[in-house]
Amino acid sequence: MTEPQDVPRIWIETYGCQMNTYDTSAMYGILDDHGYRRAGTAEDADVVILNTCSVRDLAEHKIESRIGELRSLQRKGESRATVVGVAGCMAERLAGDLTKGNNRADLVLGVDQYEHLPTMVEKALRNSGRQFLVSTGHRDDVHYVAPPAAYPTNNSHLVAIHKGCDYKCTYCIVPMTRGPQREKSPEVIEQEIRAIIAGGGEEVTLLGQNVTAYRAEDLSFAGLLQRLAGLDGLRRIRFLTGHPCDMGEELIRTIGELNVICPWLHVPAQSGSDRVLKRMKRHYTSSEYLRMVESARRLIPDVTFSGDFIVGFPGETDEDFRLTLELVRSVGYDQTFNFKYSERPGTPAARLEDDVPLQLKKSRLEELLSLQDDIWSRTAEGQTGAIWDITLEEPARRPDGAWRGRTPNNRKVLLKNCEGHVGQNLRVEITGHEATTFMGEAI
Ligand code: SAH
Ligand code: SF4
Ligand code: F3S
Repeated sequence: MTEPQDVPRIWIETYGCQMNTYDTSAMYGILDDHGYRRAGTAEDADVVILNTCSVRDLAEHKIESRIGELRSLQRKGESRATVVGVAGCMAERLAGDLTKGNNRADLVLGVDQYEHLPTMVEKALRNSGRQFLVSTGHRDDVHYVAPPAAYPTNNSHLVAIHKGCDYKCTYCIVPMTRGPQREKSPEVIEQEIRAIIAGGGEEVTLLGQNVTAYRAEDLSFAGLLQRLAGLDGLRRIRFLTGHPCDMGEELIRTIGELNVICPWLHVPAQSGSDRVLKRMKRHYTSSEYLRMVESARRLIPDVTFSGDFIVGFPGETDEDFRLTLELVRSVGYDQTFNFKYSERPGTPAARLEDDVPLQLKKSRLEELLSLQDDIWSRTAEGQTGAIWDITLEEPARRPDGAWRGRTPNNRKVLLKNCEGHVGQNLRVEITGHEATTFMGEAI
């Protein structure tokens, strides 16, 4: 089918977490339904939308400079885009403020407003940025469903099972940007997954800020997993993110008992110091966290762990930080994501003095990274010769003819000289590793 040349082309850039990746798919789906075309690059688009993240200061700075860059391309005639829009968490947090100042957005759309995208884009194109359009505010009744055709092809299809967050971790902006936790109904989730299976998909990643807190009437997250595990044709279920305080024995047992649930837990600890955890309002102590890890090791065969840590939370002492190192040593994570504390306006922690100097935050971050590297190298070296089942996810960029795959417990494997297709299951022997990627050979 040929498309008329005057149909506006849209380009959406995704920043932040998988929730934004999912929302971007949903936005493209809505725009497709209204006859818009997708651009191949930002320069080639009539409308550029940035789907943004507010979680740290740096994430927001990145967007400010990206808007500046897009405006400058526009002025120099190097981009055809006349409309620049901001969606996602920054849109929700800053709303109308984004239409002020030097590098302003023409269009601001909060996280529960995406069905207005087609009409807002149309209006913005008509007035070529002379009038600013802002639509924000949380709504309980809105849940987006990304159409399967819009999904990325790395084999795991994202499925948001709820939105928002009712936890109030004191450092975190997400409850403000995403609003209260609201569940997608199990029927809608099932329907979404059935459509994925009908399209040839076999694997889903259930998404939410706190999937383990899912509750629809009497149905808990463990109950939801049981229900989804029964879907014909679904081979693997992953999920992100689990809150350590919801990882009770019943849920752990369910994950261990159901073969389709992948044995990988992303359970951010944030700190190893009870004093800090309390001030972060995380609702667990480091020993409770370690007990959770211990029962997962006992009840979930081949389980692996990943987690997030924040260094330099207000008042974090050398001793607090030492306890974080100790926790990292005791758990033996496959991977950790480590961040310097970044004060977010309006969060409860913003009332505390951001008193750990930047240099100290940096050196603690480095120490944490290097400890994790050491622990990981030893674990990874011990895997040479192991035989694993993997699923091919995508051709590797380098070397030619190589493929990337993943084990159910989330270990990444690179296969050189391998012929295959996305979603293919293979048995491999591990021959070595580089950083967090293993090398393997099909057997
Ligand atoms: N809902 C998830 C993820 C939230 S954001 C969860 O509960 O774990 C992802 C990670 O960003 C968090 O786990 C935390 O480690 C980090 N983060 C959140 N707010 C931050 C802040 N103000 N400064 C630094 N890191 C932060
Ligand atoms: Fe933020 Fe805590 Fe909610 Fe995660 S659980 S999104 S860290 S408030
Ligand atoms: Fe960022 Fe919003 Fe996700 S703040 S981490 S994009 S929920």
